[in-house]
Amino acid sequence: MTSPDLESFIAEAAARSRLQAEPADCVLALAPLMLALIDRAGTFLRPQHYRSDAASYTRNLVYAAPDSSLSLYAIVWMPGQWTPVHDHGSWGVVGVVEGVLEERSYVRLSPDRGADEGIDLARGGLVLLRQGAVTSFVPNPYHIHVTGVPAERSRAVSLHLYGRTMSDFNIYDVDARTRRRIAVAHNES
Ligand SMILES: [Fe+2]
Repeated sequence: MTSPDLESFIAEAAARSRLQAEPADCVLALAPLMLALIDRAGTFLRPQHYRSDAASYTRNLVYAAPDSSLSLYAIVWMPGQWTPVHDHGSWGVVGVVEGVLEERSYVRLSPDRGADEGIDLARGGLVLLRQGAVTSFVPNPYHIHVTGVPAERSRAVSLHLYGRTMSDFNIYDVDARTRRRIAVAHNES
């Protein structure tokens, strides 16, 4: 990290998240920091944070805490690129630096018995997040969604702060009613 803005964000985010045991309180404390960070993104985002790939959305690591308690990624979404249906197992705070990021939510209908099968999901609503917007989620117990950019829109770039190193998450097969854990790749900073 070479930017005072980024360094102060990380220090303040770490301090606030340590004070908040409840994920919902944590995102309350962190969302205003993300709102301010978006306006300062130009001071710390470097060309490597804008790397993209024609095959998939691209996760570029900005910061990972040594104790794995926080991680910050710059994610680049080219037109038509989407995540799978997934959940994070963590709280998250997302801010949009460029473009319009779309989030489509899923509602879990079946009771959670900890199994990876027999999972009934229903499609929920969507949000369209313009540059400057902040959203968040908490694992209660799962926040299941798809995020991306439709083919007819322009590139989007977003900052994603999580309460752990986000190197794996659950993905869902809605038709098969299953989920499984997968590793998710990123570019080092
Ligand atoms: Fe997500």
